[in-house]
Amino acid sequence: LDNGLALKPTMGWLHWERFMCNVDCDRDPDNCISERLYMQMADVMVKEGWKEAGYEYVCIDDCWPSHQRDAQGRLQADPKRFPGGIKKLADYIHSKGLKLGIYADIGKYTCAGYPGSLGYYETDALAFADWGVDLLKFDGCNMDRALVGEAYVNMSKALNTTGRSILYSCEWPLYEWPLRQPNYTAIRETCNHWRNFQDVYDSWSSIKSILDWTASHQDIIVPAAGPGGWNDPDMLVIGNFGLSHDQQESQMALWAIMAAPLLMSNDLRDICPRSKDLLQNRRIIDISQDSLGKQGYRTAKMNGYEVWEKPLSQNRLAIAVMNRQEIGGPRQFTIRAAPGWKICYPKCSIKQILPQYKDMGIQAPDSNIVVTINPSGTALLTLTPISSSSFERMHKRVWQ
Ligand code: GLA
Repeated sequence: LDNGLALKPTMGWLHWERFMCNVDCDRDPDNCISERLYMQMADVMVKEGWKEAGYEYVCIDDCWPSHQRDAQGRLQADPKRFPGGIKKLADYIHSKGLKLGIYADIGKYTCAGYPGSLGYYETDALAFADWGVDLLKFDGCNMDRALVGEAYVNMSKALNTTGRSILYSCEWPLYEWPLRQPNYTAIRETCNHWRNFQDVYDSWSSIKSILDWTASHQDIIVPAAGPGGWNDPDMLVIGNFGLSHDQQESQMALWAIMAAPLLMSNDLRDICPRSKDLLQNRRIIDISQDSLGKQGYRTAKMNGYEVWEKPLSQNRLAIAVMNRQEIGGPRQFTIRAAPGWKICYPKCSIKQILPQYKDMGIQAPDSNIVVTINPSGTALLTLTPISSSSFERMHKRVWQ
């Protein structure tokens, strides 16, 4: 969507995967969906280096509204859980130099059964703008599948009419795929990012299914991504319970390669230092946020490995090699073993970013570059050509 927003993949925090629809503030005041949760997350984001690393949006998901609209027909936050209302919360978030995201739905009800926006798109867009909201995640539950596209376009127009810059996060293709192949040109013109596939869970099988879906649809979805509009493979679940450290590294590396929004869903108030370092790893974030704005894709799959590549600015290239063999110990992958990898002609500088940072020096196409990768882990490298003109030639050959 050409609204000047999301020129790089969005970074921030979104409550859903970790906190879901916990509305029991009496028994679980620290983890329920309430203004306190977002205020505390914002405080930590500023204090603990998240904001500095680039994480900017603090986003509310489902279950925030009251079950009744107000006398003017406007959505209102649940008064018990959000006593100050959304406007005050937005002011607080803005005072920290951060941005606030909110959630609504195209249909009569949200996925969790709260009031949806059907019949109220203009009203709700105006309310969000009035409150100072900076991002809208617009879900697609409880709506006739045939009308999903039209609904997303209508809300896009309603947001535009408010005059406030509101980043527009859609789930249009996810809800349209069961009916037909979505029109990604129209989606890109309408949304700043869009969910294609099922919700992420805190498990390795969920991460794998998202990667598999993405790779098997890459010819359709990758060309749609670029500054202003991105494919959204859903939240980062790093720092929770379900992924081993190697698997967390795989999610971080591949989400960067996919130029995916980096929206964490975890508890930043209580996160282990290793997960924090991974999420704040500047070298990985640089790959995600690279100014060329191209989504990477899978270029090879063999021998229990997957190779993904993302072209970067200045003819550089990021390469992720995932070890998908889930038996045995660490394995050694030789870069020369992959077909068509003579990209370092005549020479390039190679840095390993994961599993740990290592300068691998200047290498030529016939060098043997060996990386050691744990089961379900990923090696992430960047290649910087030394002679850019010849690299460009080789680069084109590899990419076409
Ligand atoms: C859908 C969305 C999720 C989340 C829930 C909330 O399942 O895909 O990301 O927003 O609804 O109910």
